[in-house]
Amino acid sequence: MRKVLYNRFGDEQVLEVQEQPTPTIAKNQLLIQVKATSINPLDWKIYRGEMKLLSGSKLPKGVGIDFAGVVAQVGPGVTRFRLGDSVFGLLDVFKGGALADYVVVTEAVIAPKPAAISFDQAASLPVAGLAALQIVDQLAVIGRGHEVLINGATGGVGMFAIQLAKKRGARVTAVVGPAGVQRATQLGADVVIDYTKQDVRQLTQQFDAVIDLSDKLTFKAAKKLLKPGATFVNTLPSPQSLVLSFFHNLFSSRKRKILILKPTAAGLNTLASFAQDGLQIPVEQVYDLANVRQAYQETSQGKVKGKAVVVLG
Ligand SMILES: NC(=O)c1ccc[n+]([C@@H]2O[C@H](COP(=O)([O-])OP(=O)(O)OC[C@H]3O[C@@H](n4cnc5c(N)ncnc54)[C@H](OP(=O)(O)O)[C@@H]3O)[C@@H](O)[C@H]2O)c1
Repeated sequence: MRKVLYNRFGDEQVLEVQEQPTPTIAKNQLLIQVKATSINPLDWKIYRGEMKLLSGSKLPKGVGIDFAGVVAQVGPGVTRFRLGDSVFGLLDVFKGGALADYVVVTEAVIAPKPAAISFDQAASLPVAGLAALQIVDQLAVIGRGHEVLINGATGGVGMFAIQLAKKRGARVTAVVGPAGVQRATQLGADVVIDYTKQDVRQLTQQFDAVIDLSDKLTFKAAKKLLKPGATFVNTLPSPQSLVLSFFHNLFSSRKRKILILKPTAAGLNTLASFAQDGLQIPVEQVYDLANVRQAYQETSQGKVKGKAVVVLG
């Protein structure tokens, strides 16, 4: 089977499509024939070596976390899935390897693909959708009537965060680039701010939650946008930021939370039911496996607004 691997850390030129033996499964595992994978910023942060503390330095490594495909083999200990089922899910974030014709998984990290969405859309959901779900429901705990600011609202995580925050009854202010203004409105944002025209740090309004998905808004800058008791969320865990936020939260009513993605089948099933009910999953760009370097070059340079998918066939 084909699999994308790299043998040294670096830019997308390190990525190579190689022939590998099809993996075998254990009693509680399934073999999935991958139809599509989607690209996440985590992929390139890992292959560039920016997350070695969490991902480790052992090479070669596979690339890609999200996948959607069809169950090709089922171990005897598997109870919820059968041969031929269409599923979507994610691999261990720091091990990767979804850019391959086949992946081996357990039932804990997959869910049935909703009939209403394509494999490309299903592959776009796991990391970005679970991140948005965790942020909205567990970190910011967004509820009815809350004022929520989402900075970077039309990227992979942001476009789901807008829709989930609206589902929970919040009023959403979306901060986006010029190309995202129309998209943010379509996704349900109440107020849309183009960050090239207005500096979000200068807003006088205060919010119940400020969610930064751009990696550009610091807690220090966001603090004046937070009501007393409000929460700031960002997505950049590091040993230093986790310790800092722990001590900060002991003494301040304005909380600082950091996303560490926790993949669960329950979360995937929640996303699947939202998708069946009309969650918008816009796929911006589709690439073939042969163009994997181009796919990562364009997405990591911000040329793709929203989700990019690599199809395996
Ligand atoms: N910690 C975890 O477990 C975890 C899990 C999932 C994701 N993440 C992280 O979460 C972040 C978001 O992921 P993603 O998939 O949504 O990334 P993405 O698709 O690249 O989205 C980032 C968004 O930020 C916007 N942006 C850029 N500069 C901005 C600025 N100055 N002000 C406001 N917005 C700006 C971009 O808009 P334009 O393109 O229009 O500029 C883009 O829509 C990434 O850093 C990712 O690594 C972390």
